[in-house]
Amino acid sequence: MKIFLDTADITEIRHWFDMGVIDGVTTNPSIMLRDHVLDMEAGTKEIAALVAPLPMSVEVTTNDPDEMLIQARDFASWAPNIVVKIPQITADGTPCYGVIKTLEAEDIRANATAAMSLGQVILAAKAGATYISLFYGRIADEGGDAAAVVHDSVSWLERWGLRSEIIVGSIRSVGDILGAVKAGAHVVTIPPQFLGKMADHKYTRETVRQFIADAEKSLALMEDLRARAQS
Ligand code: E4P
Repeated sequence: MKIFLDTADITEIRHWFDMGVIDGVTTNPSIMLRDHVLDMEAGTKEIAALVAPLPMSVEVTTNDPDEMLIQARDFASWAPNIVVKIPQITADGTPCYGVIKTLEAEDIRANATAAMSLGQVILAAKAGATYISLFYGRIADEGGDAAAVVHDSVSWLERWGLRSEIIVGSIRSVGDILGAVKAGAHVVTIPPQFLGKMADHKYTRETVRQFIADAEKSLALMEDLRARAQS
């Protein structure tokens, strides 16, 4: 299973990338705005260069499928590890699977994003998307069983030998991460604050404190014994 970092904050990306725990980065226009990456091209190029050859997803910013294609080709020219996020449908409900099919035929990797259902996953996989992003938190917001959607999607892809990988995004807690992991997600894309929470545990802190304190006691005893032997 892979872990992607769901952020455009370069300091956080460097921090977690240097620890060797991330396999890629995902963004969307709201994340870019929140993390003050206003110049999308410059920000994307900086992140893509930092994590290369790991994948970095960047999302189209238009509601028009023809413009999505033009934008996606432009984004993909910024760096070889860029993956372009294409929504399942436009804001008016027009399917965007043709855009995904064309991009993949041109060797531009597509991340079919904003998926909320198994039906959408099936269509995105048929169109050849490299990644399909299921929005765990948003599915649950509507009363859906997000873990079941992830499980059914991964099972269906594996049963029919389709190569698309399920990225679980829209993570709102460490519980969501573990739910997605247990449901079989190929990738979970995690906001940096939850990676910190995953690592931390009060009993681990206490254990480390105890071991250091005992090591210091051993050292002091050893020095004491040495001093007695010399006197
Ligand atoms: C990632 O690919 C998604 O764009 C992101 O996780 C969405 O998160 P949100 O539902 O919290 O906006």
